[in-house]
Amino acid sequence: MEINLQGKNILVTGASRGIGAAVAEQLGKSGARVAVHYGKNEAKAQEIAEKAGNASAAFQADLNNNASCSDLFKKVVQAFGKVDVLINNAGIAIQSPLEKNDQEWIEDWEKTMQVNMTATAVLSRAAIQHFQQNQGGRFIHISSRAAFRGDTADYMAYAASKAAMVAFSRSIARGYGKQGITSFVIAPGFTATDMAQDFIDEYGMDYALQGVALDRLTQPQDLAPTIVLLASGLADHATGCTIDINAGSYVH
Ligand SMILES: NC(=O)c1ccc[n+]([C@@H]2O[C@H](COP(=O)([O-])OP(=O)(O)OC[C@H]3O[C@@H](n4cnc5c(N)ncnc54)[C@H](OP(=O)(O)O)[C@@H]3O)[C@@H](O)[C@H]2O)c1
Repeated sequence: MEINLQGKNILVTGASRGIGAAVAEQLGKSGARVAVHYGKNEAKAQEIAEKAGNASAAFQADLNNNASCSDLFKKVVQAFGKVDVLINNAGIAIQSPLEKNDQEWIEDWEKTMQVNMTATAVLSRAAIQHFQQNQGGRFIHISSRAAFRGDTADYMAYAASKAAMVAFSRSIARGYGKQGITSFVIAPGFTATDMAQDFIDEYGMDYALQGVALDRLTQPQDLAPTIVLLASGLADHATGCTIDINAGSYVH
């Protein structure tokens, strides 16, 4: 089966590095025009847009700021004409032990919720309204294994934000399916990126590998093919689902 995304415009948040970068590149190789969103790493985002090809382009927005999220969606629609798929990938994981003082712990919690969930909601709301005017569209939300099994106590906010994404995605699937809008969740386990490296530096590679069935860490490229399939429309009857890509964490 050949998957051809020609003619599809796809916005990927947090595509300057890690999972988002690998996904953007593979979407481009499959024919899509990709809006490569970034926060700080402009040069890397430009590089990914070039690799993706098909007149893909980089777009900056700080996801700590809700007005920037709305502007991002508008800017992509202005540049590309329309958006067919939104991939909510950008995310942060802040180590936040209970021993931090009240103010710091609450700030970590709120920042995590802002970037991982509120920014996702603001962007998705704009996308739903856009999709309603264009006979449909697709969402792919990059959640985490942590949504289902929790995380270490230092990452409670992260796990909670990722669980919220799952309920959010299912609500979109329920609420807008009859308008041609579908919504999926990918729940990765440890994946070799800067984010995972922070965790491995703290807990060690053995800790990361002891919970998986395979003998190696998942690479960002291991997630991309499933995301290309979901973006294509060939899997629309899986709307509302979560796909675990976690090297067999649940069977180990
Ligand atoms: N890696 C894992 O083990 C793992 C496991 C499960 C789920 N996930 C999820 O997968 C997604 C991607 O993770 P990753 O490991 O690829 O992360 P990463 O390597 O740390 O990259 C994060 C991306 O998000 C962007 N970003 C972060 N905060 C931002 C902000 N405030 N405003 C704008 N952009 C922002 C970064 O942009 P700039 O660099 O340009 O600022 C970067 O492109 C996340 O949602 C993460 O929770 C990851």
